[in-house]
Parts: sequence; C-alpha cells; structure tokens
Amino acid sequence: MNHSAEGQTASGEPQSTDIFTGVDSYIGGLFAREDEALQASLEDMRKAGLPEISVSPVLGKFLYMLAKLTGARRILEIGTLGGYSAIWLGRALPQDGCMITLEIDPLHVKVARRNLARAKLLGLVEVREGVAADLLAGLIAAGEAPFDMIFIDADKESYTEYFELALKLSRPGTLIAADNVIRDGAVLDPAAIASDSRVEGVVRFAGALAKHPGAEATMLQWIGCKGYDGIALAIVKPRS
Ligand code: SAH
Ligand code: DHB
Ligand code: MG
Repeated sequence: MNHSAEGQTASGEPQSTDIFTGVDSYIGGLFAREDEALQASLEDMRKAGLPEISVSPVLGKFLYMLAKLTGARRILEIGTLGGYSAIWLGRALPQDGCMITLEIDPLHVKVARRNLARAKLLGLVEVREGVAADLLAGLIAAGEAPFDMIFIDADKESYTEYFELALKLSRPGTLIAADNVIRDGAVLDPAAIASDSRVEGVVRFAGALAKHPGAEATMLQWIGCKGYDGIALAIVKPRS
C-alpha cells in the first residue's frame, strides 16, 4: 500500500505526507476548516510556548458534533491548555448555554482566556484555575447542576479519579469523553505500562470504565495529523 498522499491542511496549504495525515487534512479541509479565531489561538499558544497537544481540527469538529448530538447546554472540560478544544465545544452551545473548563497552569489560563475572548466566547465559557480534582470537588460541594457533556483531557494519571468525580456532576444520559486513551498503541505494551505513568493511567482508566456499573462505554482509535491515539466515550446509565 502506498503510504504517501497529497493533502491539504485545514488552513489550506498543500502538504505531502503520510496517507493518514493526508486523509486527516482532506477531511479537515472539507469539514473542520479553522477560522481566524482558531488559527490565532494556535499561533498565540505557539508564541507563548505552550505544548502543541491541542486536539486536531478534525477531533475538535468531532467534539463539536458530539455536543450537538447530545443537545448539550452545559459542558465541563478538564484540561483547558490554550482553549482550542474549548472554542470548538463552546461553539456547539446554544446562546444561553454554559461551559466550565479547568486548568492548573496560570499561563495556560491566561492564554486560554485571551483565545476565548478573541472567539467571543468568554461570556459562555468560564476558565477556572486550579488543581482539577479540587475544583471538581468544589463544584460537587457547591451543588452544581449536572453537565450534559464532560470532556476529560488533563493529566492521564488521574483519569480514573476524574471519571468518578465526573459521574457526580452528571445525570443519566450525560456523555463523558476522554482523550488520549490509545497512546500510539502503547496501551498494549507491558513495558510502556510499567515505565510511563500516563500509559498506566489510561490503561487503568479503560479497565475501570469497561466494568463500571454506572456507564455504558466504548473507545475509538483515532489516527490523523497528531499521530495515533484514541478517545473513550461513555454514557451515564439511569441510577438503579
Ligand atoms: N483540551 C485541550 C488540551 C489539554 S492538554 C485542547 O485539546 O485544546 C492538558 C492540560 O491539562 C494542560 O494544559 C495541563 O496544564 C492541564 N493539567 C494537567 N494536570 C492538571 C491538573 N491536575 N489539574 C488541572 N489541569 C491540569
Ligand atoms: C498529551 C496530552 C494530551 O491531552 C494530548 O492530546 C496529547 C499529549 C501529553 O501529556 O503528552
Ligand atoms: Mg488530549
């Protein structure tokens, strides 16, 4: 099989690359074109020295579609970075919707607020600074209304704990999605699980999710311009 392809980036420049990256760019060029606000957010993050680990345009559009499919009016995100996925998710909300996104790093918070302001989403999307587990406990203690969709994308070591806290902020039918659950296939490699706490974290999460009585779930492997990874999807069950 020929693994080369001519593709287009979401912003339109041609590029010659691996066929999976090429096809990702093809899909992105058709369905996930980045407007000025999304492009500027990536540029701002690069200039500020943030890691280039935002979701891809095609995954951003996928999250947007999931939010629309669930009719989400209230979204919670764990792990903001520079606000790129928050822009995609925030755009799926109705005018009177709301999103809260949690971030530990003060620089990331600053960049994210700037990017959300540029995308005219600061009225809808609130960035909360702090340790996610503490902020989640605070939301639970405050009796926050349940969220319709929750996106887990912070430190991989804590995914199992975040899922349990997310359940406490959910209702039956809430969609809980978690990014980066395949890690280049390292989840199959015992040596990687033993040596990389992030891989161990997502493998432990997958095992807990698979047998969790509170949710139905599956995972999708995902390949594209950010390499090979995957996303877990869970629907909260009726309380029995
Ligand atoms: N969702 C973003 C990417 C998030 S990257 C996007 O796709 O655009 C993961 C983020 O989680 C980083 O910004 C990191 O600082 C943050 N993070 C890591 N550990 C955290 C913790 N314990 N509490 C809150 N945020 C955390
Ligand atoms: C990492 C985190 C992410 O959320 C991601 O999408 C890719 C990589 C990381 O911490 O390595
Ligand atoms: Mg991620």
